[in-house]
Amino acid sequence: MPPPPPLVVLAAALLLAAAAAQEETCSGVAPEPPRRGAWVSLASVGGRGDGRTLNTAAFARAVARIERRRGARGGTLLYVPPGVWLTGPFNLTSHMTLFLARGAVIRATQLCAFVEQDTSNWPLVDPLPSYGRGRELPGGRYTSLIHGSGLQDVFITGENGTIDGQGSVWWDMWKKRTLPFTRPHLLELMYSTDVIISNLVFQDSPFWNIHPVYCSNVVVANVTVLAPHDSPNTDGIDPDSSSNVCIEDSYISTGDDLIAIKSGWDEYGIAFARPSSGITIRRITGSGPFAGFAIGSETSGGVENVLVEHLNLFSMGVGIHIKTNSGRGGFVRNITVSEVTLNGARYGLRISGDVGGHPDTSYNPNVLPAVDNVSIKNVWGQNIRQAGLIRGIRNSVFSRICLSNVKLYGSASIGPWKCRAVSGGALDVQPSPCTELVSTSRTGFCAS
Ligand SMILES: *[C@@H]1O[C@H](CO)[C@@H](O)[C@H](O)[C@H]1NC(C)=O
Ligand SMILES: *[C@@H]1O[C@H](CO)[C@@H](O)[C@H](O)[C@H]1NC(C)=O
Ligand SMILES: *[C@@H]1O[C@H](CO)[C@@H](O)[C@H](O)[C@H]1NC(C)=O
Ligand SMILES: *[C@@H]1O[C@H](CO)[C@@H](O)[C@H](O)[C@H]1NC(C)=O
Ligand SMILES: *[C@@H]1O[C@H](CO)[C@@H](O)[C@H](O)[C@H]1NC(C)=O
Repeated sequence: MPPPPPLVVLAAALLLAAAAAQEETCSGVAPEPPRRGAWVSLASVGGRGDGRTLNTAAFARAVARIERRRGARGGTLLYVPPGVWLTGPFNLTSHMTLFLARGAVIRATQLCAFVEQDTSNWPLVDPLPSYGRGRELPGGRYTSLIHGSGLQDVFITGENGTIDGQGSVWWDMWKKRTLPFTRPHLLELMYSTDVIISNLVFQDSPFWNIHPVYCSNVVVANVTVLAPHDSPNTDGIDPDSSSNVCIEDSYISTGDDLIAIKSGWDEYGIAFARPSSGITIRRITGSGPFAGFAIGSETSGGVENVLVEHLNLFSMGVGIHIKTNSGRGGFVRNITVSEVTLNGARYGLRISGDVGGHPDTSYNPNVLPAVDNVSIKNVWGQNIRQAGLIRGIRNSVFSRICLSNVKLYGSASIGPWKCRAVSGGALDVQPSPCTELVSTSRTGFCAS
C-alpha cells in the first residue's frame, strides 16, 4: 500500500485529538428515546395552568390516553405549557416523554397536607420490599408527586421547567412529629428501565427529590435540585438498588446529601439482595449541610463498581461520606472518587461503620457490612475543619482503603485524621494520614 498523503494523516491525528479531548458523557447508558409520533398537551385534556386549578385528573387523563396507545408510533409526548400547573400525585406510563416548556411549573398541591394530619387525599403506597417499612415511620408511605412502576422508555425533560414539591408543610409536620407516614418523594420510579431525566429544576421536595429504585439504565443530566439547607431529608438524587446509572452536569443544593447511593435496609435489604452497581457520577456542583457524595447508610443489598469524578463542592457538612452500620450486611466495594474540590466543610472525608438507625428490632447486629477497595484520589480542600474519620467495624475491618493526593487545608489549623479498624494505603496526603493507612502503603496497591 502506498503511504497516505501527509494531509490525511494530519487530519486523522486532529480528529483523534478532538475525540480524546471531548468530555465523557452519559450518552449510551440509556437508549436515546425514539421520536415520539404523537403529542398531547395538558391544556387539551382539561388542564389549566393558572396556579389555582387542581390538575390531578388532567394528568391522569393524559397518561391514560398515552397508555392506550401502548407505544405505537414511538410513544407520546405529554407537553406541559408555560404556566403553573397545580396537581396531586400522578403516575407515568411507558414510552412517554413528560416535557415541561420554559416557564412551565408542575406544583404539588398543599391542600391534602394543609390541615395537619389530613393527608387523606395523598395516596399511600406499600413500603419498599428492601426497606420493610416506610423510611421514616412504620407502615406505608405517601406516593411520590410523580411516580412510575414497571415502566420502560421514560423521558422526563424540558426547557428547564420546574417541578415544585412545596415541601414546607411536610417539613413542618416532620419537625412537629405530626406525620402519620413517611413523606413523599418528588419523583420516584420503581422497577423501570431506560429512563432519562434532564434539563429540569426540581425544588422543595417533601423528602428525597429523585429516587430511582430497582431500576436500570438511568441517566440524570443537566438538572438543578434546590431545597433550603434546613429542610429535613431533602436528598438530591438517590439511586437505590439500581444498576447502570449515570448522573452528570448538575447543580444540587439541598438540606441533606446531594447524591446518596443506597441499596436497602438491614434484614429487608439483605433478603431482597438487589445491589446498586455500575454507577457513574461526574461534574456535579453544589452545597448542603450533609454530604456532597454519599454511599448509604442503607447498603444491605450491596454497592459496587462506582466511579465519581469532578465534584465541585462548597459549604458542606462532609465532602465524601461512606456510611454503613452493624446489622446492615451487604458490601461496599470497588469505589473510586476522584477530582474533587471542596471549599468549606466540617469533614473532608468520612467512612463510618456506625451510622444510621434500624427499621425495627429484628435486625441481626452480627451481620456486618464488608467495605473493600475504596479509592479516593486527587481531592483538594480548603476551609476544612477536620480532615476526616475512617472508622471500620472491629470484626469487619474496612480493607484496601486508599487515599492518594488528598490535600485538605484549614484556615487556622485542621483537625487530624482519625482512624480505627481500617487497613489501606496513603500517598501524598495532607495533613499526614493516620498510621493505619501509612503502615500498609508498601503493599503498593495505591500506586497507579
Ligand atoms: C399509581 O400506580 C400505583 C401502582 O404502581 C398505584 O398503587 C397508585 O394508586 C397509582 N397512583 C395514582 C395517583 O394513580
Ligand atoms: C435553570 O433554572 C435554574 C433555576 O432557576 C437556574 O439556576 C439555571 O441557571 C437554569 N439553567 C438553564 C440552562 O437555563
Ligand atoms: C445539557 O445542557 C447542555 C447545554 O445547554 C446541552 O448542550 C446538552 O445537550 C444537555 N445535555 C442533555 C443530556 O440534555
Ligand atoms: C472489582 O473490579 C475488578 C476489576 O474491574 C473486577 O474484576 C471485580 O469483579 C470487581 N469486583 C466486584 C465485586 O464487582
Ligand atoms: C478496585 O476498584 C476499582 C474500581 O473502583 C477497579 O478498577 C479495580 O480493579 C478494583 N481492584 C480490585 C483488586 O478489585
